[in-house]
Amino acid sequence: MDSSSAFAAPPPPRFVTLRDGSRVVLRPLEPADEPLLREGFARLGRDSVFKRFLGVPHLGDEAFAYLCHPDQVDHLALGAECPEPPAGRGRGVAIARSIRVREEGEDVSEVAIAVADEWQRLGIGRRVLDALAAWAWRSGVRRWYALSTTDNEGIQRALERVAEPLHRRIEGPGALSTWWALRPPDDAPG
Ligand SMILES: CC(C)(COP(=O)(O)OP(=O)(O)OC[C@H]1O[C@@H](n2cnc3c(N)ncnc32)[C@H](O)[C@@H]1OP(=O)(O)O)[C@@H](O)C(=O)NCCC(=O)NCCS
Repeated sequence: MDSSSAFAAPPPPRFVTLRDGSRVVLRPLEPADEPLLREGFARLGRDSVFKRFLGVPHLGDEAFAYLCHPDQVDHLALGAECPEPPAGRGRGVAIARSIRVREEGEDVSEVAIAVADEWQRLGIGRRVLDALAAWAWRSGVRRWYALSTTDNEGIQRALERVAEPLHRRIEGPGALSTWWALRPPDDAPG
């Protein structure tokens, strides 16, 4: 397959078990998830918001409409949800996106992710990115870049688990883009 846009079936929902034994479901984002996304954003700590958006934005209705209606061809969005969260944790666990940026190249997407604070360091970031990378590959994406703060070691570690580092570029004070080559999924035609 070449690297032009292609519809690739979203991965079917599946349960994964995290480091602390919690079971969460990995599944494509749907428009009906808007309340969950709004609640998750409201719960996200300031530091995580800053790392995700490189600032602390106010997300209005238009922004949520965009975030909740990925076309799942050029804008892929995969989330993780815990149907019965333990006390003190939210139902929305993580959301990751792969969004085509043709100005950067025909096969390039920006990757972005946010894991709810209380769900961090349990292995969900890597699992969501892994599933998203396989889906993105099938959609014709071959390279990802991530915009992050220069001190965001977590996203570098998580991406290292699922892709090959290519290069990095300083984008401004405290901001960095890191570039990654996606690996073919195990069942990709050779
Ligand atoms: C970065 C982020 C996505 C990582 O998700 P996570 O679920 O906590 O990560 P995982 O538990 O899957 O860990 C993946 C690897 O990264 C490492 N890691 C995770 N957070 C880390 C941190 N803060 N510092 C150092 N390493 C970290 C883990 O130890 C793990 O390494 P291992 O495989 O060697 O054990 C999450 O912390 C987050 O959403 N942060 C706020 C938003 C953000 O930074 N987004 C990225 C910009 S787009």
